Amino acid sequence: MPIITVDGVEYEVAAGRTLLQALDDLGVLMNGVDIPHYCWHPKLSVDGSCRLCQVEVEGIPKLQIACDTPVKDGMVIHTKNDRVKRAREGVMELLLVNHPLDCPICDQAGECKLQDYAYAYGVPHSRTKEPRRAAKKRVDLGPTIVLDQERCILCRRCVRFCREVPGTGELGTFGRGDRTVLDTFPGIALDNDYSMNVADICPVGALTTKDFRFKIRTWFLDEIPGVCTGCANGCNIFIGVANNKVYRYVPRRNDAVNQTWMCDAGRMSYKEIETADRLTGVSVRGPSGALEPAPLSTGIRVAAERLRRVADAKGASVIVGFGSAHATNEDLFTLRRLLSGLGTEAAAVPVVTGKADALLVKAEKAANGSGARALGFAEPGRVIERIRGGGADAAIVLGHDLLDASFLGDTADLARLDTVILLDSRRSDLERVAHVVFPTRHAAEKSGTLTNHAGRVQRILQAVEPRFESYADGEVLHRLGIALGLAGFEGDYDVRAVSREMARSVPAFAGIDLGSLGGEGAVLAGSKGEGER
Ligand code: SF4
Ligand code: SF4
Ligand code: FES
Repeated sequence: MPIITVDGVEYEVAAGRTLLQALDDLGVLMNGVDIPHYCWHPKLSVDGSCRLCQVEVEGIPKLQIACDTPVKDGMVIHTKNDRVKRAREGVMELLLVNHPLDCPICDQAGECKLQDYAYAYGVPHSRTKEPRRAAKKRVDLGPTIVLDQERCILCRRCVRFCREVPGTGELGTFGRGDRTVLDTFPGIALDNDYSMNVADICPVGALTTKDFRFKIRTWFLDEIPGVCTGCANGCNIFIGVANNKVYRYVPRRNDAVNQTWMCDAGRMSYKEIETADRLTGVSVRGPSGALEPAPLSTGIRVAAERLRRVADAKGASVIVGFGSAHATNEDLFTLRRLLSGLGTEAAAVPVVTGKADALLVKAEKAANGSGARALGFAEPGRVIERIRGGGADAAIVLGHDLLDASFLGDTADLARLDTVILLDSRRSDLERVAHVVFPTRHAAEKSGTLTNHAGRVQRILQAVEPRFESYADGEVLHRLGIALGLAGFEGDYDVRAVSREMARSVPAFAGIDLGSLGGEGAVLAGSKGEGER
């Protein structure tokens, strides 16, 4: 392992890495060792075009760009001396010579590297009076992205992203010298499943998403770490929240899970939080045969009475449970305990599948199918057969994926049951056959853990409070357990305590609970994890 010295501090680094890579590997880049950079990105090839990352390497007469200088044992680097400082000032001045400086109307303001670096490494005054280069504003690049050519600093991160990550290559730079501009190739739209990542990696306000631009100033947002629930990959995200409203999802770096990317569909899935078809209150089927609004206590009492009546009449084995692959491990663990407490082990989870790709998107269109399986939930086939064969009288159903054509298809089989208890966040045909309906929370509205396709358990923390009545599935099931008088159900629902109990009693989760998980998650015992990408 080569040892390098940066500003008097020794670092042991991996061989074969560039200076920026080596410092990034150690987690000290811009976090103790400040080498500003524009064109370099940890997950893209080296461009070496912006020249902002220049440093002094002892023994080499000219300043070197840290993004393209391989580390060597004994290398001594200076990042703060006057030569380096003057070089950075020169680069910043050059980049700003033609910049429109329209920060007050630029949506990147507040999270713009040109602002940040101009403040930290630039000079306070402009030395030019000449008009700035004019270029196209508000260029519609495709369904998701708008370009402001004047703001572009030609770092070509977006160009390399499209070529190297989705492999679609829609973007290029055209023209020469100070007439060079970024654009799409003629007749081609920027339109791929990962297109919105270009707005994240654009260091300035040249590329912005149509969805987020002008919605809110970024400095009003709290960025809460979370996990995308669009598929089983479990991409790490920041949930941008202000005034108890989610404004956006952006990717959070996790090299094992999603590197620094996320797909467009997952990014837009935040809209499910405020969708018009959310269930917003408890309801109980009344004497008229219709579902009628009811307080939570009534819903719990009626659900418990119906389940107890069925169990007393025919034995608990006629009660079945369908977990949801959208629910947390803690929700599902509570459902397993409830079913076991009643005396039935018939627990299955339907997981809807769809399109996958080789980059991030997984076929399972739910975040926690692996968690459900690790907690003992089976494929739904046998439980569905039992219902169709008349071997079930009551069902507790989480979510509505059971209605997918690959499982029940419709509500006819459930309609024959004596009792259906539904816990869901959204309206569906299941309401037609449910006897008690509980409104549940979206993943952004509760805390817990999710297990991705590779067995990585990741925590989610509540980002917003629902504006209507709604509960974590685990809380409803916990109250139901109390109403049924089952052992182990007492006191208030505490998701952290449930998580600890799960870690104690389920061998696969040993040592993994909500309170002890770090930001990168931990892999279930017996799972291989994703491996480094
Ligand atoms: S649009 Fe942004 S990411 Fe693309 S080259 Fe210009 S500054 Fe770089
Ligand atoms: S790949 Fe899956 S988890 Fe990742 S952003 Fe897309 S939908 Fe979300
Ligand atoms: S980051 Fe090194 S030249 Fe741009």
